[in-house]
Amino acid sequence: MFERLQKKWKVKGWQLALILITFTIGGSATGYIGKKLMPVFAIGPAWLWVLVYILLVTIIWPIAVLIVSIPLGQFPFFIKYIGKLGRRIGLGGSDVKRETSNVKRLTSDVSRFTHIAIFASGAGSNAQKIIDHFRDHAIAKISLIVCNNPAAGVLQIAAKEEIPVLLIEKDRFYKDDAYIKELNEYRIDLIVLAGFLWKIPVALLNMYPGRILNIHPALLPNYGGKGMYGQAVHEAVIKAGETESGITVHYVDEIYDNGKIIFQAHCPVLPADTADSLARRIHQLEHQHYPKVIERVVSGINEV
Ligand code: GRF
Repeated sequence: MFERLQKKWKVKGWQLALILITFTIGGSATGYIGKKLMPVFAIGPAWLWVLVYILLVTIIWPIAVLIVSIPLGQFPFFIKYIGKLGRRIGLGGSDVKRETSNVKRLTSDVSRFTHIAIFASGAGSNAQKIIDHFRDHAIAKISLIVCNNPAAGVLQIAAKEEIPVLLIEKDRFYKDDAYIKELNEYRIDLIVLAGFLWKIPVALLNMYPGRILNIHPALLPNYGGKGMYGQAVHEAVIKAGETESGITVHYVDEIYDNGKIIFQAHCPVLPADTADSLARRIHQLEHQHYPKVIERVVSGINEV
């Protein structure tokens, strides 16, 4: 149970202990203060007493927990946690607010909840890391996986994680814009490509201006462009005798691997490297950085 909580809240063991202590002290303080306050209200029928008590406790609990969390150093966790609870019960409304306009803004207002679609058509190792990162996240959620390959490993990940899937066919993607309506259905604000090889149609670029990201397994502007994907990239890097490669996260525009670069990370190319060994190193780098870069974009920080 503790391990599950640790994973769910993405905290270390010692932090989980402090969080549980905060819950315990905050909860007891709430009960105590509630009982002390009740006699102040001269309430008649027992059912009304219970109702007022519940209401009172609902108001006191978040305040008590937040106060207790300060000396225990858990305020950032609890402010997020309580914000999320509030959204769940419909307070604040940022989770359920639906944009009417087609062109939605990714703002720097972190109280806005961002629905992310991952476009992936391969094994989905990056998709998995992104899903892990945003599991129970305070300001964003992976709401949809878009895939063009019915045999892709990412579909198993989507099933396991219970994330809806939109399987698209080429004709539909380029000639029919019905899938855009489906992105709206899921209130998608941001699209992240993670192993999606089809070129993004102009209709979609216009719909999500500056809100489609891609990760490329090399240091752009080198080793990018049409046909430069998968092992071909690493083979070209090794063939050129590079001593360094890396990853590039960039915005997507109408040209392959051309949009504004958001982030790059480097790694060495070793003399004994094959395309496979280099690919493994690059994958590690992608897993380490892509979710964090996406998070920063979600928070409206474009320069990381
Ligand atoms: C990654 O190497 C990424 O750079 C590229 O496609 C690959 C996807 O790998 N765009 P995976 O399916 O996430 O394992």
